[in-house]
Amino acid sequence: MLLFALTILNEFCKLSDSLYKLNRNKLAKTDITEKVVSLAKRRGFVFQSSEIYGGLNGCWDYGPLGVELLKNVKEAWWKEMTYRENIEGIDASILMHPRVWEASGHVENFTDPMVDCKECKARFREDILDECECGNKAYKGRKASKCRDEGKFTEARNFNLMFKTYLGAIENEDSIVYLRPETAQGIYVNFLNVKEASRQKLPFGIAQIGKAFRNEINTKNFLFRTREFEQMEMQFFINPAEDEKWFEYWKENRINWFVKYGISRDKLNIHPHDKLAHYAKSAVDIEFAFPFGWGEIEGIHNRTDFDLKRHSEFSGKKLEYFDDQTKERFIPYVIETSAGASRSFMAFLLNAYEEEQVSRENLDGSTAKETRTVLRFHPALAPVKAAIFPLVNRDGMPEIAHKLTEDLRKDFKVFYDDSGAVGRRYRRQDECGTPYCITIDSDTLNDSTVTVRDRDSMKQERISIDKVNSYLKEKL
Ligand code: GAP
Repeated sequence: MLLFALTILNEFCKLSDSLYKLNRNKLAKTDITEKVVSLAKRRGFVFQSSEIYGGLNGCWDYGPLGVELLKNVKEAWWKEMTYRENIEGIDASILMHPRVWEASGHVENFTDPMVDCKECKARFREDILDECECGNKAYKGRKASKCRDEGKFTEARNFNLMFKTYLGAIENEDSIVYLRPETAQGIYVNFLNVKEASRQKLPFGIAQIGKAFRNEINTKNFLFRTREFEQMEMQFFINPAEDEKWFEYWKENRINWFVKYGISRDKLNIHPHDKLAHYAKSAVDIEFAFPFGWGEIEGIHNRTDFDLKRHSEFSGKKLEYFDDQTKERFIPYVIETSAGASRSFMAFLLNAYEEEQVSRENLDGSTAKETRTVLRFHPALAPVKAAIFPLVNRDGMPEIAHKLTEDLRKDFKVFYDDSGAVGRRYRRQDECGTPYCITIDSDTLNDSTVTVRDRDSMKQERISIDKVNSYLKEKL
């Protein structure tokens, strides 16, 4: 009897997923962000910072799955950028000499125009009033620009976005340092060190991933605009005569990177800047189609020789390059690729999110409809690569499943789950974006085979248990 029940259960679980018939209805754009934020918390991707104290505006924590996804995004970028001959990596200190920020222009120019509403006392960035909502709850949904038109705002004042702190025990003007607002400057001030240590010749780049901090006036849209975030920046040092060629090269290369990791080209846009930053000769944004509209995820900038020249002036140290072949001495130009790791994380998460209507055939032949939520991450980005399930918690299945989990863990981030019906376990892993689920069942006991279920097609196949590792290596 027990064997019969087990066989039925086994067969049902094999079927439970493959019998789902797909009817992929893409979600209305408007509610996606809300759903993704809710899933991000439920499944442990992102939590509000200091949530038990009511949260800290513009700051977020990455949970167990989020930290894996973020790490994978950064690793994909790092490999793309530094696993080549002419780009070196560094990791510079967050706190830098205060003169760095005078030279870079941040002390003088890194400001946003800020206005206050005389009525509700809310504070806004004046140049994005159309994107902001009025602070008065009674006018829910009203654009802040409408309040401006009604004359409710103070005159605009410039507000510097850099966070200040003090170095050492004495808090005075001389001990002020800043939390870096971009990682780029750590690269410029190390240009000579890296060139000499790695014996690089132009053109060559220096890449860095790290935290940056901006005291944004208005944070918004989940991870899109936060006060603490991570950047993935690469500064490519070139002969000034070749600036246009390299600008085009990096524009193409960077957009292709997002496509390579699963974002379709029609969700990406190249937006040329009309207003250029103080350091740039030309600049474009790579934008992603966020549910709230196009939003920048990466900037490509021709920064000319602005930064090296300024650091030469302010430090008194010549930041030049001597070309052995042409015998020219010059200050290199820089093409910068500056991506937000946190914004890219958000784009990859939104891009992966899908709900599909599936209809399931029950054992009695009737059908039931339900919604399957799935994160279709590129396998390289997926936080967990495979989940391992014993069909039931007896008959030696958990022991086999544990052993398989331990073996796979040496090579992959895997997850063991023995609670609830297998169909429910599949659903949970779909929501985590796990590409493969492996089930140990009664057949495993007889012939040492397991079921491997594919997240996207929901198809299942049986393979020998000792082939699982090589199967995953090949697929992932
Ligand atoms: N070094 C050049 C630079 O920092 P940027 O356009 O100000 O250029 C580059 O920033 C990238 O950093 C943006 O494309 C975005 O992905 C990310 N970023 C900037 N501010 C951010 C914020 N407040 N929150 C999250 N990401 C941000």
